[in-house]
Amino acid sequence: MVSQKKTLNDVKNKKLLPHKGLINGEWVDSASGKSTFDVVDPATLDKLATLPEMDKQDTATAIDAAHEAFKTWKKTTARQRARMLRKWSDLCHENADDLALIMTLENGKTLTEAKGEVVYGASFLEWFATQAEMTHGEVVPPANLNQRIVTFKQPVGVAACLAPWNFPVAMITRKCGAALAAGCTTVWKPAGETPLSALAQAVLAEEAGFPKGSINVITSLTTVAEVGEELCRNPKVHKLSFTGSTRVGKLLMQQCAPTLKKLSLELGGNSPFIVFDDAKISTALDAVILAKFRNSGQTCVTANRIFVQSGIYDEFAMQLTERIKSLKVGAGTEDGVFVGPLTHERAVEKAMNHIEDAKKHGGQVMYGGKPMEGMGSGYFLQPTLITGMTTEMLTTREETFAPVLGLYKFEKEEEVIELANDCDVGLGSFVITENMARSWRVAEALEVGMVGINLGMLSACESPFGGVKGSGFGREGGTQGIHEYLITKSMLINVAN
Ligand code: SIN
Repeated sequence: MVSQKKTLNDVKNKKLLPHKGLINGEWVDSASGKSTFDVVDPATLDKLATLPEMDKQDTATAIDAAHEAFKTWKKTTARQRARMLRKWSDLCHENADDLALIMTLENGKTLTEAKGEVVYGASFLEWFATQAEMTHGEVVPPANLNQRIVTFKQPVGVAACLAPWNFPVAMITRKCGAALAAGCTTVWKPAGETPLSALAQAVLAEEAGFPKGSINVITSLTTVAEVGEELCRNPKVHKLSFTGSTRVGKLLMQQCAPTLKKLSLELGGNSPFIVFDDAKISTALDAVILAKFRNSGQTCVTANRIFVQSGIYDEFAMQLTERIKSLKVGAGTEDGVFVGPLTHERAVEKAMNHIEDAKKHGGQVMYGGKPMEGMGSGYFLQPTLITGMTTEMLTTREETFAPVLGLYKFEKEEEVIELANDCDVGLGSFVITENMARSWRVAEALEVGMVGINLGMLSACESPFGGVKGSGFGREGGTQGIHEYLITKSMLINVAN
């Protein structure tokens, strides 16, 4: 049962809970004043807050504010922007407990994970503070000796940042930190399920000195389609960054086409997790537990297809069953919980659909396989292990996005590379092997944006994050991240007498 119940009343810094949208430095309701929506705790279904349901008109007003603010923000120096980013990062650390609690309550992830995400989120601010001053152009050797050619970098303009519900802090700072560091102004659209973390970030960013209009936040749940369309179609927006499903990413790209916006799309994944016979079994177990059960299986790079070589398959399955049995399920605010609730009801339905489909095609449920009983009305699913997975099963083609692990058996390296690449998306991947040559060969052969060798997490602000194929394009973090918000301008100078 859910114990140690915590609520937003336990947040110490009440300023972090504005419960309004932010436009041009004002915390506001929707201009129409028509409707609101509730944010609920997925562990209990208790209402946490009521926020304005902002619409197309509010979004256009926020874009106008960002457009106006860009005229002066683009003239700030990189060092000024870097100082604000560092201050924002410091404020995240100072308020870490409150930020983690807000995130746990609206998303469901455990407090330990939420604290980890606050630190991870702040790391992007520090990282982009360093990157702001590193974005210089070049002097290009001319073919025509009467010319000199130089390039310089400039901010692209107003950036729309559409963040998902699975990392409500880190995806805001990974996108908006880069945009603001580059000299862009921003309109944030956090997910309707988890807007409170983004609002708290906006409070801290304002406190760090970001001027009015440089950060605007649109809160919306049921109006998400009209808000998204305005961000895409409005010609004053020059850059759009989105993390979410491939289906929505394609729609946004179509809607952005008439105004030819610069885009970064981090879309769905279906990560292969490959365990070779030569793997250290303890490394494989630690990595798969993290890659699958972090955030209750709701990361874009979660291990979805677990390929295990035949020589180690039975032993791995047996030890994994024991490890999964020991994972405590519960509200993220409870001590010792490793697997929190899923963030919304649809996620439980989808996971159950994958489990039933696997059973129908001959998969054996070794552990779990059902929604949790005796946990109240929250969206809890038993951590689940299925063996005997085959390619005709739904999980092969679709991300389960839940704490459900399915093991596929393979014989040869070439075979598993083919299986892993037989997929229309390519975001993350994991390879567990003690053979260094093999790790290079397989990493090079996989059609993905990221490969983890002997580990279960791909998160690091210094490392570019993004995918290939249906997982989208563009990179967040790394030295590439800030360039998504910059254009290169070239200047050619006549030096003839
Ligand atoms: C994601 O799931 O998109 C983000 C995961 C991470 O950065 O660790």
